[in-house]
Amino acid sequence: MYRGFALRRAAQTDARFLGDMLVEAANWRAGGVRPRHEVLTSPEHRRYLAGWKRMSDDGLVATGEDDAPVGAAWYRVLPQNAPGFGFVGAAVPELIIGVHPLWRARGVGRSLLRGIVQLAGTEGHARISLSVERDNFARNLYRAEGFAVVGEGAIRDTMVRGTL
Ligand SMILES: CC(C)(COP(=O)(O)OP(=O)(O)OC[C@H]1O[C@@H](n2cnc3c(N)ncnc32)[C@H](O)[C@@H]1OP(=O)(O)O)[C@@H](O)C(=O)NCCC(=O)NCCS
Repeated sequence: MYRGFALRRAAQTDARFLGDMLVEAANWRAGGVRPRHEVLTSPEHRRYLAGWKRMSDDGLVATGEDDAPVGAAWYRVLPQNAPGFGFVGAAVPELIIGVHPLWRARGVGRSLLRGIVQLAGTEGHARISLSVERDNFARNLYRAEGFAVVGEGAIRDTMVRGTL
């Protein structure tokens, strides 16, 4: 399998790149063109990144051969009174993942996913959740990596995986 990338722990200084990946996730559908500023200031998306890196935030950045970031997965514990799309409980972190378009379908996403599940476990989280629109192929990736659907909305599913 082609690799050519490495994973490292996400730092506070990665906020801008994580913002890029949040925009990719919001615009996952082919032709999705919500402008960066609009995504990053919208209430439904800014909660995943505002104030990064908080005490309970953690994540991984995938880097290419020149150490430039090419993808990221991170999690955040969101409160019950301001939950994310994939909220399942006040102590269960919610995952966000995105890979730069030029780097997709090379194993980066799967590698980030495995790494972030492991990281969440070592940081003491028994479970991790996410939300995915039903027609996003990423749903199959999550299933293959052990996430199970625990809630079905009109267009999005909530999925959860244990970290052990
Ligand atoms: C979803 C995403 C993170 C996956 O990352 P990736 O690096 O492309 O994924 P991988 O290369 O590890 O591929 C994982 C699996 O998905 C499959 N896959 C990759 N791209 C695909 C596509 N466009 N359509 C269908 N399947 C695809 C791969 O074949 C692979 O399965 P396989 O190993 O059995 O062949 C990435 O595509 C992305 O950033 N998408 C836009 C943002 C997004 O949708 N984020 C998730 C929001 S919930």
